[in-house]
Amino acid sequence: MRVMEALREGKRILEKEGIEEPFLNAVILLSSAAGWERWEAWVKEEIPEDVAGRYFEYIEKRKKRVPVEYITGKVKFCELELVVYSGVFIPRPETEEVAEVALREIEGIKNPVIYDIGTGTGCIALWIKKKRPDATVFSTDIDKRAVENAKENAKRLGIEISVLEGDLFSPLHDKPAPDLIVSNPPYIPEGKELPPEVRYEPEDALFGGKKGRKIIERIIHEGKDILKREGKMVIEIDPANLPLNIPPCFSYEIRKDPAGKERILILRRKE
Ligand SMILES: C[S@@+](CC[C@H](N)C(=O)[O-])C[C@H]1O[C@@H](n2cnc3c(N)ncnc32)[C@H](O)[C@@H]1O
Repeated sequence: MRVMEALREGKRILEKEGIEEPFLNAVILLSSAAGWERWEAWVKEEIPEDVAGRYFEYIEKRKKRVPVEYITGKVKFCELELVVYSGVFIPRPETEEVAEVALREIEGIKNPVIYDIGTGTGCIALWIKKKRPDATVFSTDIDKRAVENAKENAKRLGIEISVLEGDLFSPLHDKPAPDLIVSNPPYIPEGKELPPEVRYEPEDALFGGKKGRKIIERIIHEGKDILKREGKMVIEIDPANLPLNIPPCFSYEIRKDPAGKERILILRRKE
């Protein structure tokens, strides 16, 4: 089959289902089915039969709104190429800024200890350790598959972080106190309508109780007793979570995302 013919047919099928950017989706799925870099779709002319078969299986999955990342098994975060397992939260572009803010908050601290709570694919923890090799990074997740996924990413990338399974800080009680706690916790208010793709992601990674602030407030209140004296927290939030109950030992700042929504909460211990 000719590449252009496959791409046009894929685009036609996806467009009919109302998938956004159907041609780009087709290019990504064909490249993945063929094991090509994306640009190769523009220079190759023919695809073998087995690749065409796999590609149209991928198109069928995408038609059912399975996220592209679950089909290809890959996702980019900052400059990292990560593996993402089906059923593990797919890192979002806005979380890259959370990781960057966390890195700025530890500038000037030598050999910082970092906890990444609810690590998913390990994206935040891995990027921090990549940029700050002197840091000791611990990450936790309550979901066994996420823990396996983060461990696989660490191994593939040769980045040394400790990934532990368990509820928030519970696997970390014997670890050194952190200079910084970072987290992109589940923060969507329960019952909120979500795009069909998001329904393929695990509920425990998405929803944080009625106002979405259940896990955020647990991180703040349990974390405050664990942090070092001048410790900080950087937490991704949603405007629906506000106002949050913030203990008086912290000064805080809320940064907005490019869409003008309150997105990153920074807590700095005062005393
Ligand atoms: C929104 S996802 C974020 C994943 C990753 N940090 C990212 O930004 O892509 C939230 C993660 O928190 C985990 N999680 C939910 N409740 C948890 C808990 N009580 N303790 C530890 N992890 C939890 C979920 O399994 C999920 O992987």
